[in-house]
Amino acid sequence: MKILAIETTCDETAAAVVSSGPEVLSDIVYSQIKEHEPYGGVVPEIASRSHLEQLTCVIEDALQKADLTPADLDAVAVAHRPGLIGALLVGVTTAKALAWAWNLPLIGVHHLEAHLEAAFLAGEEIEHPYLGVVISGGHTDMHRVDGEGETRWLGGTRDDALGEAFDKVAAVMGLGYPGGPIVEKTALEGDPTAVKLPRTLLGEDSLDFSFSGIKTAVLYKWRGMNAVHEDKAPDAPSPEDLCASFQAAVFDVLAEKIRRASRQEDLYTVVLGGGVTANKTLRQGLADRLGPDYKLVFPPPRFTTDNAAMIGARALRQLARGDVADLELMAQAQP
Ligand code: KG4
Ligand code: ZN
Repeated sequence: MKILAIETTCDETAAAVVSSGPEVLSDIVYSQIKEHEPYGGVVPEIASRSHLEQLTCVIEDALQKADLTPADLDAVAVAHRPGLIGALLVGVTTAKALAWAWNLPLIGVHHLEAHLEAAFLAGEEIEHPYLGVVISGGHTDMHRVDGEGETRWLGGTRDDALGEAFDKVAAVMGLGYPGGPIVEKTALEGDPTAVKLPRTLLGEDSLDFSFSGIKTAVLYKWRGMNAVHEDKAPDAPSPEDLCASFQAAVFDVLAEKIRRASRQEDLYTVVLGGGVTANKTLRQGLADRLGPDYKLVFPPPRFTTDNAAMIGARALRQLARGDVADLELMAQAQP
């Protein structure tokens, strides 16, 4: 089986060809970061327009790199939810048109399920049930996964997603965009115990997250208690110490929420996915905090942020169990 997969949920225009295995035959990502950078975040209208401009070339590139023609394909897959509606529409409409023109089945893939599927691209088959944790720019969610299509949501963020908190912390300190990789790099030279920051755990058994408090705490530490200045306060900590302390605080929270979910659900295999899992300090930090009773499974680094290979890998499983869409498939902003 060979599937052409398309991803346009946010600010990466991506196409990949994935064959059974799963084996990634090609994986093309056009990142729009440079287009959104001047605004310090993703501008939905710019994202949709850029997808429109790039997608056809990205698809042609993916087929060429895989050395295939449309006649070699068994299906076309597309991430159809959740995401920015205008951005999703470009991918979904293109996928429908290609499936119709090439007379191929169309597969609609849930972007967050695909983020978890990315962990399987490391080549390891993971037994159900497991705890699925998605930490990305748009989502922070925990699921119980009992089998194919048997997923139960356990909890998620009530405000900012974890990746969003990284981006906002970087913005407060003027470090650049997107914030995740910059905060990680800056933190490498800092002391994680240097700045006292809150760990918001909500109720005793809560599996929900809240990262807006720590974001505000970082703002006050940086700009001073009245936060009237745009600039750094004279007594502000160093960016290195503040980034390291921010990471320590949010990793403590994430570890505690995983511990709670594991205890409540009796699940000690944890599959993680999403852009924030690119963070090496997080990978080590979670392993250190959770200890040897937990099996943590992360995606290969290149499949952590948005890509179409994970959409193709997820679509292979859906195709195998006949989970195929028709031309009525809708783009959907909400999960
Ligand atoms: O999964 P993703 O590409 O897009 C969504 O589905 O949202 O995640 C993007 C997010 C951004 O917020 C970015 O800052 C964050 O992932 N990210 C990181 C790192 N690399 C990307 N966060 C922390 N550390 C990183 N190294
Ligand atoms: Zn994503």
